[in-house]
Amino acid sequence: MGSYSVQVSGSDPRTVECSADQRLLDAFLRSGVYLPNSCNQGTCGTCKVKLLRGNVEQPSIPETVMSAQDQASGHILACQSVPRSDAHIEVPLGCASGPRHALRDMVGTVTGLRPIADDTVALTVEIDEPLEFSAGQYIELVVPDTGEVRQYSMANPPGCGERLEFHIRRVPDGRATDGWIFDSLAHGHSVEMRGPWGDFVHDTEVGAPMVLLAGGTGLAPLTSIALDALALDPDREIHLYHGVRHRQDLYAVGFWETLERAHPGLRYVPCLSRDDWDGRHGYVGDALVEDFDSLRGHVAYLCGPPAMVDAGVRACKRRRMPGRNIRREKYTPAPVTDLAAV
Ligand code: FES
Repeated sequence: MGSYSVQVSGSDPRTVECSADQRLLDAFLRSGVYLPNSCNQGTCGTCKVKLLRGNVEQPSIPETVMSAQDQASGHILACQSVPRSDAHIEVPLGCASGPRHALRDMVGTVTGLRPIADDTVALTVEIDEPLEFSAGQYIELVVPDTGEVRQYSMANPPGCGERLEFHIRRVPDGRATDGWIFDSLAHGHSVEMRGPWGDFVHDTEVGAPMVLLAGGTGLAPLTSIALDALALDPDREIHLYHGVRHRQDLYAVGFWETLERAHPGLRYVPCLSRDDWDGRHGYVGDALVEDFDSLRGHVAYLCGPPAMVDAGVRACKRRRMPGRNIRREKYTPAPVTDLAAV
């Protein structure tokens, strides 16, 4: 299959080669051209660019993701579009800043797979050479024999050598979990991956007090962010709220309690929404509102199911945190991905 030259204009103009079966975002990130990106599934609209010349092919885009007006004026989603001719793309001005770690393919070896909570495992993979990434980013795991990928955030901070750790919650009848990770995956097996992806990253330039709101395995990228922040400043003020439904869904309690003792600025607040226990009961956003009169001067990172993230954002704003200080990532169910078209 041939390839096309894609001219990129914006704050970092250059020309990128993109093969006819490669999505533009993939080609850009592998070539060091940064584009905002989040879901890589065509559902968030973050990777919107303007096609100035040439032809691309992309599936139909719902108006909830990109307006009809934008689509009529030539905007496309870089994570969904493959070239059908040489092309000229305009990327939004001001998007030269962001995580610029080159996307790469990797094969890793499973070195750990252990249950950490009900229906949840920690998967550890060793890769041949360290992956450069920013705390909060994710990789895609290729599900064998399915033509599908699944996205999992690194739970370890950058700079851990060749080791990557992921927290994986079982999805009933899920092809990746019931069909592979919770079924046949074992120590010593090889796994195919590619990454890093995503813009939900720790802003290492900002040293303000930090609020972290996690739902379920949304704790993984927030663990990476918290450890990255503490490595830069061991006294950093960090308030971590981890919400789950039941006691048996809670994990890493001992890890966070130990970290709390080592870092006086760190506060760990596990919250159960369904079970009564001797800790906090309710949702993380409500706990945040109860604990703070004002969040002015704080920054927030939220990750978890969409309803939890939306409620957490409302809680932050209710306590007067400006929207620009709030970073979020929603965990949504994986759509079917056809690798033949990636
Ligand atoms: S729609 Fe392309 S990154 Fe989300």
